[in-house]
Amino acid sequence: MHRLFVFLGIAVTLSAQYQGLKSTWVEPSSNIVLPASDTFDNSNGTVGIINAAGPVNTEGHPFFVPLGTNGRACVNCHQPTYAMSLSAASMVERWITTGGKDPVFAAFDGSNCPNLPQDQKSSHSLLLNRGLFRIPLPWPPKNSDGSPKPVEFKIEVVRDPTGCNTSAEYGLRSSEPTISVYRRPRPAANLKYVMSGAQAIVLKTGMPADVDPETGKPVPMNLMSDAREPTLKTQAVSAIMGHEQAGGAPTQKQLDKIVEFESQVYAAQIAHIWAGPLELPGGPGTLGPAALRDRRAGVLGDNEYDPVFGRFDNWRKGSDYYRASVARGADIFMFRQFWIRDTAHINSIGLGNPVKRTCATCHNAQTTGQDLSAGWVDVGTTNFPTWTEPSTWAESSELPVFKITCSAKADPHPYLGRVIYTTDPGRALISGRCVDVGSIVMQQLRGLAARPPYFVNGSAKTLREVVDYYDRRFDMKLSDAEKEDLVNFLGAL
Ligand code: HEC
Ligand code: HEC
Repeated sequence: MHRLFVFLGIAVTLSAQYQGLKSTWVEPSSNIVLPASDTFDNSNGTVGIINAAGPVNTEGHPFFVPLGTNGRACVNCHQPTYAMSLSAASMVERWITTGGKDPVFAAFDGSNCPNLPQDQKSSHSLLLNRGLFRIPLPWPPKNSDGSPKPVEFKIEVVRDPTGCNTSAEYGLRSSEPTISVYRRPRPAANLKYVMSGAQAIVLKTGMPADVDPETGKPVPMNLMSDAREPTLKTQAVSAIMGHEQAGGAPTQKQLDKIVEFESQVYAAQIAHIWAGPLELPGGPGTLGPAALRDRRAGVLGDNEYDPVFGRFDNWRKGSDYYRASVARGADIFMFRQFWIRDTAHINSIGLGNPVKRTCATCHNAQTTGQDLSAGWVDVGTTNFPTWTEPSTWAESSELPVFKITCSAKADPHPYLGRVIYTTDPGRALISGRCVDVGSIVMQQLRGLAARPPYFVNGSAKTLREVVDYYDRRFDMKLSDAEKEDLVNFLGAL
């Protein structure tokens, strides 16, 4: 009852720091100065943003001014209010306040397909309903010199509700064959964690890791849902050429400035609606954005001494009902064992199938809960039959469905064989490998309350739906009380 009430009262309250601005939405080229620290309310409490290098003057700053042709800057899709990502609700709000004219709705990827009538809401349904942007990727994938990469499978479009994958202009049969998948923006914050943990050989595949084109050194391969970008610099170039539709490449100085900004901005929940302030002496040492700023990146969560999100002992023992619930949720995340099964790149790498482990087996990196090694795993969100989409074809989902047929010579997907139906092949669209179909790089689990919905395809509207997915997927048999604890915990991150 409580929770429903809060959800209906979601209307974002305005931060006092932005006096004179009508909303907490940062417009491109608004020339404001972002304070060194700031807070924004959301349905689960308050998110805190820290600029570790001090106040940020956005005037002329390449993260905050449009560098392309469609009026968009990075900040359109990476807003402080939403933990440097976006919520789907914020898109509905933007649609209403701007009559659908905000550059975030640009035809190129802010609509289901650029060839749809752009003034109609239905043409932007994936962004409005699920917070998804179109990600057009070339098929087959290309090497850095532009030559086609060898691939192990054939891909066919089985269902195409957006029309984009079968379009003569934009689809798989167009002059530049393209697959369109639809994905959530990942937070452009706390990136020192995302960018740490490089290993020369990728544990999951035994193959050499991608390298930084500037230094030739291996990269961690945790950037983007499919690890297609080796560095923040290459990512920024692609975002400028793609999302911002620039005609020419950005300058070195612009790229440096973007990476400098991204590398010092931290985002995390700072107050929980029920449990109150989260950055308290004697409390768990990982909550709140200051901990993200101060802690070391690239550390494995340790069961005994320093679990993924720290120690909650004082809260577990204390008398505050909600803090105790958050602490119990942290224990479930870290210690509650269940049978993880049929998960490519976890069960298939020598751990056994099934294997009795925990949430933190996959989400193992301290402070953000990503994977310390290259983090693509097929947990099942996009592949039939465990996908999050409606289970019958009659209750239609708005996502495209692809049929993947792997060649007889290729290693099959370890659990789904050589014919796979999927709404997003994930890493396989980049590697061309059958074993990677449906593998998605784990996101950081911070600022979650500020940026629903969840999973790469925005299919879980609430944290409760995330937990329900896992409960079903791995038959965890969580009680209602346990689910509530886990939701309270995730909402405090
Ligand atoms: C139109 C919306 C949009 C714009 C504009 C945009 N992004 Fe993104 N950003 C996304 C989406 C969507 C993803 C996830 C893509 C994927 O996973 O394939 C993303 C991912 C990222 C990530 C990866 C984070 C992680 O943990 O993997 C970074 C960093 C990032 N964007 C920075 C930028 C920068 C810098 C700019 C400006 C040059 C920018 N973005 C412009 C939508 C946008
Ligand atoms: C077998 C590995 C694995 C296990 C176990 C696992 N996860 Fe995940 N988790 C993933 C992967 C991979 C993704 C990305 C999937 C996607 O986005 O569709 C993910 C995504 C998420 C997200 C979405 C984050 C976002 O920004 O959208 C949350 C929240 C999450 N997991 C929480 C949990 C919790 C809680 C548990 C334990 C009940 C758990 N995970 C167990 C691999 C795992």
